Amino acid sequence: MSLPERVTIYEVGPRDGLQNEEAVVPAEVKVELIRRLLAAGLPVVEATSFVHPRWVPQLADAAQVMATLGEEGRALPVLVPNERGLDRALELGLRHVAVFGSATETFAQRNLNRSLDEQFAMFEPTVRRAREAGLDVRAYVSMCFGDPWEGAVPVEQVVSVGRRLLDLGASQLSLGDTIGVGTAGQVKQLIGAFGEAGVGTDLLAVHFHDTYGQALANAYSALQEGVTTFDASAGGLGGCPYAESATGNLATEDLVWMLTGLGVEHGVDLGAVVATSAWMAGHLGRPSPSAVVRALAPTVG
Ligand code: HMG
Ligand code: MG
Repeated sequence: MSLPERVTIYEVGPRDGLQNEEAVVPAEVKVELIRRLLAAGLPVVEATSFVHPRWVPQLADAAQVMATLGEEGRALPVLVPNERGLDRALELGLRHVAVFGSATETFAQRNLNRSLDEQFAMFEPTVRRAREAGLDVRAYVSMCFGDPWEGAVPVEQVVSVGRRLLDLGASQLSLGDTIGVGTAGQVKQLIGAFGEAGVGTDLLAVHFHDTYGQALANAYSALQEGVTTFDASAGGLGGCPYAESATGNLATEDLVWMLTGLGVEHGVDLGAVVATSAWMAGHLGRPSPSAVVRALAPTVG
């Protein structure tokens, strides 16, 4: 079986990771985390979220973090749920934003305070204005494999939400297993269903949380299907404060280890990411859940 020669790792630790930490990490530590991840060769680092600060107090310092990064931060993507979030990103001159839709009714209500249909009314002017301003827009689809309130999510429902987000003008869809329940066969099936709906793997990214220990197997399944963009979080930080039982993302280090073993190019310096995660674990006061970080942390500076 032929695998892609090279992939892009889309680092979400500073956003998805830190949004779910009980401790609020100081802005200067966030800035250093982002700088260290960029220096480790990660080509994309999602930096923060311009959501309502009451909904995600951990990222209430989004403007401060991006202003401190200055020019360096302009190319980094940030989450925006609506026009207010977009305005905040535009004020800082940012060039990449991501909207985040839900494949289920309940999670749309819990995460966005909107019905499944109403979320599109919120995203439509957000994506249109972002595109008019020349920004690149990524779109997430959450709860692609299962939802804590609704159970299994029909594949057609996920494809329909994804199609609508692309039709609004998003350039890439990131398929989120928000609560980490999906398994490798389902990943293959969902990617196949998108293909049949005219959405090829060039438009897809995968975003696996590791709640049930399936994230790496799911990433391998997506790789076999030809996906070339993989979301991951340094040290396996992460979760979603509005999704019961969501834990960390696929750890960047675990993904890098597998890709290196398979001979798939990724451009990331594993030792530098491990050292960053070990440093971050010190700030968070708990060890990284990543097996690769635990194996290698004692060996890096
Ligand atoms: P709402 O309460 O319905 O907002 O929340 P609203 O539109 O009714 O506005 C109410 C007030 O909030 C107004 O202020 C707005 O200006 C203000 P007032 O006029 O009353 O003074 N407001 C804002 N302020 C700052 N920034 C904003 C903003 N928007 C409105 N952007 C809203 C709706 C979408 C804002 C809220 O539900 C929200 O912020 N939700 C975000 C939840 C979140 O961040 N979840 C985690 C990210 S998603 C995730 O992790 C999943 C993912 O990783 C993929 C996966 O794993 O599947 C991406
Ligand atoms: Mg997530």
